[in-house]
Amino acid sequence: MAYSEKVIDHYENPRNVGSFDKNDPNVATGMVGAPACGDVMKLQLKVDEEGVIEDAKFKTYGCGSAIASSSLVTEWVKGKTLEEAASIKNTEIAEELALPPVKIHCSILAEDAIKAAIADYNSKHGKE
Ligand code: FES
Repeated sequence: MAYSEKVIDHYENPRNVGSFDKNDPNVATGMVGAPACGDVMKLQLKVDEEGVIEDAKFKTYGCGSAIASSSLVTEWVKGKTLEEAASIKNTEIAEELALPPVKIHCSILAEDAIKAAIADYNSKHGKE
């Protein structure tokens, strides 16, 4: 199966690989796995006092599309509020990366990772 040029670009030059201290109260960590293939994605957001995402990092143990999806969302979420980040849809990720149908679940993993990170932030800050 051929990867799109954008997938190959993110796969060969992943943006924002790494991690933040998960115990930092301003760091939100989302860790999700895809049961179908066993791939795992960790996404971390650094959130400022106003609830704006100032930085993002990821570590993904998975296929090229999962790495590209997580690399892409680290770029997309920067400068967004948590609410804005929560509205990022896997369909937008799949469209941007031109993912074929069998790779759609890789983009769902990235959407789920954002949601999991936001849930972590809310629980750290005593919100539902
Ligand atoms: Fe499962 Fe890509 S093949 S995340």
